[in-house]
Formats: sequence, C-alpha cells, structure tokens
Amino acid sequence: MFYKIFIRSILFLFDAESIHNFTLNFFSKATFLYPILKLIFSPESDSVAELKGLKFKNRLGLAAGFDKNGIAIRFWEALGFSHLEVGTVTPLPQPGNPKPRIFRLKEDEAIINRLGFNNKGAEEVRRNILEARKLTGKDFVIGVNIGKNKNTPIKEAVNDYKKCFEKLFDVADYFTINISSPNTEGLRLLQEEEYLDELLSEIKDLNDLISRSNSEQPKSVFLKIAPDLTPDMTGLIYKLVVKNKLSGIIATNTTVERLNLKSRINEQGGLSGKPLKQMSDKVLKSLNDMNRENSDDPVLLIGVGGVFDNDDYKSKLNNGASLVHIYTGLIYEGPSILKKILN
Ligand SMILES: Cc1cc2nc3c(=O)[nH]c(=O)nc-3n(C[C@H](O)[C@H](O)[C@H](O)COP(=O)(O)O)c2cc1C
Repeated sequence: MFYKIFIRSILFLFDAESIHNFTLNFFSKATFLYPILKLIFSPESDSVAELKGLKFKNRLGLAAGFDKNGIAIRFWEALGFSHLEVGTVTPLPQPGNPKPRIFRLKEDEAIINRLGFNNKGAEEVRRNILEARKLTGKDFVIGVNIGKNKNTPIKEAVNDYKKCFEKLFDVADYFTINISSPNTEGLRLLQEEEYLDELLSEIKDLNDLISRSNSEQPKSVFLKIAPDLTPDMTGLIYKLVVKNKLSGIIATNTTVERLNLKSRINEQGGLSGKPLKQMSDKVLKSLNDMNRENSDDPVLLIGVGGVFDNDDYKSKLNNGASLVHIYTGLIYEGPSILKKILN
C-alpha cells in the first residue's frame, strides 16, 4: 500500500525511462541499504528447486530487460529473487531506438516499450557480472539473454548470438536466446523454421565445443518466444527446441496485439503487464500440453507475462511453469510483490 500510494505516485510523475535508469543507478550504488532491503522485502525461502542442474532458492526471477547491463545484480538478490536475467545483450554496444520509447498505460496496469535492445554490449556486461559475482551468494542464479545488433542482417544473425554466447559463457549460469522482441526489425523472422533450426543447432554445437574444451557441463539454454505466434508455429518451435536439446522455453515476451485496452495511448512497441496475462498463459498451457505428449523428454517451462500477485503466480505454475519471471508487476506493485507472491 505504502509503495502504491506514496512511492509510485512520485515515481510516475517522471518520464518512465529516466526514472527507471535513476532508480537502477541509485540502488546499484546504495549497497549499504541491501541488508535492510533484504530484511524488509526478501520472502521466506519458498522451496529449493533443482532444475536442469541449477539450484533456485525460490521460483521467482527478474525478467530480461529490467537490468539490461547487469549493473544492480546484488540489489536483485537482496530483494529476494532467486535469479535474474541480464540483457538482452548484443555483441556490440548500441543506443536503441529514439526516445521516448517506454509508455505507461496506468488504467491497464501495463507498459508499451520499443527500446530496441539498448545495451552496453557483451564486453561490459561480462565485466559487470564478474564484478557482482565476487559478492553474490552461490545460490543466486544469473541468466544472460542474448540477441543481435540492429545493423546485423538477419541472414548473419547466428554469428551475433554465437559471439555473445562465447564471450559470456563463463559468467552465465544459463542463456536465453531472444528471438521474440518486437522492437528489432526482422528479429521475429528468426522464429521461422529455416532460421531457427540453424540458430539452435549452431548454439548447441558451440555449447558442446566450449564445455568439452573447458571440461565442464554444457550451459542450460532457453528460447524466449512471442505470445503472437499461431498454434502451428508454437508447435513447430517446440519440436525444434526438443530436436536441438535446449533446456526449455520462456513464454512469453511482450505482445504487438492491443486487445481490450482502456487506455488511449497507442504507441508502437511491445505491450506487457495485465493485458498480456491471458495470452501468455495460453501459450504456456499449449507448451505444457506438448510436454505431456512428449513425457519422455519434456522441456522446462518458464512463465512470464502479467504476474502481479499470488493467483497470477499460481496460474503460471498450474499451466506448467517451473519458474516465473516478473517485470511490469514490479513497477506497479513495488518490491513487496515478492512477499505478496511467495509468502
Ligand atoms: C521496458 C521493457 C523492456 C524489456 N526488455 C526486454 C529485453 O531486453 N529482452 C527480453 O527478452 N524481454 C524484454 N522485455 C520483456 C519482459 O522480459 C517480459 O517478457 C514481458 O514484459 C512480460 O512480462 P511482464 O508482463 O511481467 O512485464 C522487456 C519488457 C519491458 C516492459
């Protein structure tokens, strides 16, 4: 309540992206506050889940895009997340699309963004993770979400994913291949069979090669998909994920649909938050049904989209998710959302 009435009202007076960057920067430096934040916000340890060789102290993670460059990793740990997904990271730094590019739809408890993979590039993100790793607990899982640079033609996109994978291999606990952002022109073409099969098999080969030469286990690799796919395309993607032995699927990214919105703001970009919930649950459920039919070799499912409270969280788990990510819910509900969901 305190967050919604006081803090959020103040934060929402400012431009969405400026206040996002300001608070992220502030909390990345205010390390003296971490023990207090932990005391106030961190939920009791829910359950320890061991999934694909990784241990999670609870099932809640921060979704990709919130801390793209991994500048505040220890802050997320202090709030009580079991893991976070840094990125989307591209091989080279890039500024993203022109501003303004994040819009709040308050009546809908939603956000539209068209950031376009603004990030500091793989080299700097690698340094940030290495630095944070010195002080995070061993049980805090760091995933890295990877993508392609804006100027890389779609036919050469595989090379960008491979560059990121190679550069960040030793600092990532898992990787997510992002082919579902609506804000990089042509990116969603990578969801089509001719591109996707090649992309996934090349990443698999690279994963095997690096892990063998380092004498360690291959990394877990996830694919993050859009909520706007036809059922046929979702089915095809599922088959390619199984064929190329990925660990799992993250469902979903933001949507380009604009269904039943109260707000009149109609900006281009990806919509997240409450209006996305039903769509992303539907995709998750269909993947879970495919897992049931493929019970010898199911893939791990991570649910994301419109999680604001314990009911939303439970519906993701009931629809087959083993882990749940949040983004927009954190903006609207504040950091007490973790306790609200898990306690
Ligand atoms: C401002 C903003 C930036 C985002 N950036 C990324 C990104 O870089 N990579 C990615 O895979 N997803 C990105 N997302 C999508 C989220 O990770 C998440 O999949 C989506 O917002 C749905 O979850 P939510 O309804 O809890 O926000 C972004 C979302 C928002 C709102």
